[in-house]
Amino acid sequence: MRNYSKSCVYQIYVKSFADSNGDGIGDIPGITGKLDYLAWLGVDYLWITPFFTSPMNDNGYDVADYCNINPMFGTMQDVEVLLAEAKKRGIQLMFDMVFNHTSTEHEWFQKALAKDEAYQQFYIFKDPVDGHAPTNWQSKFGGSAWEYVPSLDKYYLHLFDKTQADLNWENPKVREALKDVIRFWKDKGVGGFRFDVVNLISKPSVWKDDTQGDGRRFYTDGPHVHEYLKELVADTGIADMMTVGEMSSTSIDHCIRYTKQQERELAMAFSFHHLKVDYKDGDKWQLQPANLLELQRLFCDWQEQMQAADGWNAVFLNNHDQPRAISRFGDDEHYWKESGKMLALLIHFMRGTPYVYQGEEIGTPNAGFTSLEEYQDVESKNYYKILLSTGKTVEEALHILSVRSRDNGRTPMLWEESPLGGFSTTSPWLAFPKKRSGVSVAAQQQQTDSILGFYRRLIALRKERPVIAEGTIRFLDTPEGIIGYERQLEEQHLVVLCNLTGNSMTLLPQLRPVGMFLIGSYEEEPDVSLGLRPYEGCAWIC
Ligand code: GLC
Ligand code: CA
Repeated sequence: MRNYSKSCVYQIYVKSFADSNGDGIGDIPGITGKLDYLAWLGVDYLWITPFFTSPMNDNGYDVADYCNINPMFGTMQDVEVLLAEAKKRGIQLMFDMVFNHTSTEHEWFQKALAKDEAYQQFYIFKDPVDGHAPTNWQSKFGGSAWEYVPSLDKYYLHLFDKTQADLNWENPKVREALKDVIRFWKDKGVGGFRFDVVNLISKPSVWKDDTQGDGRRFYTDGPHVHEYLKELVADTGIADMMTVGEMSSTSIDHCIRYTKQQERELAMAFSFHHLKVDYKDGDKWQLQPANLLELQRLFCDWQEQMQAADGWNAVFLNNHDQPRAISRFGDDEHYWKESGKMLALLIHFMRGTPYVYQGEEIGTPNAGFTSLEEYQDVESKNYYKILLSTGKTVEEALHILSVRSRDNGRTPMLWEESPLGGFSTTSPWLAFPKKRSGVSVAAQQQQTDSILGFYRRLIALRKERPVIAEGTIRFLDTPEGIIGYERQLEEQHLVVLCNLTGNSMTLLPQLRPVGMFLIGSYEEEPDVSLGLRPYEGCAWIC
C-alpha cells in the first residue's frame, strides 16, 4: 500500500486565496484564517504556491531568495504560525520548490552579472554563435529562450520568462545549494514538497538547433534527470515524504521511473497530456473542442500503464496554470452543478492521489474577462502580442485569451456572495469571475446538494472505502463521451461512469452496473436502463 493513497491535496494559490490585511492580495495569515474550513473539507495536505522573495514577474515562480518570505505575503513568523496551526488540525504543508530556474534578481545571478565566474557557472551562459543566440530554442512564454547580456557578451538560457534564468544542475555547487533549501524548510516542519517543472533540469551536453520544434525534445526528461533527483532526495532525506514533481511534456515511461517506490525519487508526478486534448496540433493558442476520445484514451493509458509498473499518479484537472475544468469539459451555463460534481467524481475515484485546486470545490468558472487590461499573467500578455503579430484580430486574440489564459484559474477565491467575495476589504489584484452567482463557500456550506458538499463526501469516501484508495483500475470500453472505469479490491468492485457530453447517452446492457448506488452528480439516482443524463457522473459498489 502507498503512503498517500488515502490522502487528498488542496492547492492554494496564495495571491488569490484570502487577504488578511486589506491590500487586495492574498497572504499567509489569510491561509491560517481558513484552516478550519480546510479541515472541515477533509484535506490532508496543502500545496502552497511560492511565497518567497520575488519580483513577481511570474507571480512568485521567479524566486529571488528561497529561504525568505515576500513581504507582500507576510513574514517568516507568519509561516511558522501557519505550520503550527495546520499541524494542530492534522494538515501538513507542501512548499513549492522552483529549482529549474531562479529570478534574475537572485543574488547568484546578480553575482554572475558582476562577472563572478563561480556564479556564472550556476547558470547556463553561452557565447554567441555567428553573432546570434546559441540555438533557436523558444521560451515557453514566447520568444527566444536566450537573452543576450551585452556587458558579458554572452547569452543565458531561460526556458520561461527572461527574468527566470535556468540553473546549471551539472554544477555540483548548484545541487548542494538547492539541497540546503530543502533542508531549511524540512527543519521548519514542512510535510512535503512540490517540484516545479523538475523534469527540465537536466540539459543536453551538446547545444544544437531544433529543426522540428521549440527545443523541448532536447531537455525534457533530460540525460541526468533521474540521477539528479535521486541525489537530491537521498541527500535531504525526503524519500518517504510527500513529494510531487511537475513533469512538462513527459512520457509514461519516465513517470514510472519518477514515482516507482523502489526508485526512491518522488511520491507522485503531474503529467499534462490529458489537458491538451483541446489544443489544435498541440498548440495551446489554437482552439479546438475537447477531443473526448483522446481524453478517454489518455486516462486509460496513463492509469493502467502506471499501475502495471508500480508508478503513482497525481490526479487533477485544475491548477493555477489551467483554465477551469468546469468551463472546459463541463457546461458551466446549463449544467453547472452536475458538471462540477461529475468532473470531481471522475478524478477522485481514479487510482492516484487527487488534487483539488482552490475554487474548484465551489464550481468556480473561467474569468470571463473581455479586455486586455483585466489580465495580469506574463504568459497571457506575451501571447496576446504574438497572436496579433500572427494576424489575429483584437477580438480573436481576446477570445483566445478568454479560453486559454492562466488568469482564468487565478481569480480570487469567493468565500461569500458579497461584492468583495469575503476575499478582501478592497478590490483585489485580479478581478472576480464574471459569472459568480451561487459560487461561494458560504452559500454552498449551507446546502446539502452543493458542489462543495459533494467534494467533501468524495474526500471522506476515499478514507472510508479501501477500494477507492487501493483498488486496481481497469477502464471500460465506453462510447465516445463517456469515461468509465472499474476499481477492484478483493471481492469489492467500484464502477464509475461519467458522461462528459451535454447529451443523454444510452448505455449498452453490458455497461449497466448492478449493485449499490454510491454517489452521483444528480440529486436522483440514475435509471441506468434509460442511460446517463447530460454531465451525469455516478458510482456503484458492485
Ligand atoms: C510551472 C508553474 C508555472 C510557472 C512555470 C515556471 O509550470 O506551475 O506557474 O510559470 O512553472 O516556473
Ligand atoms: Ca494581503
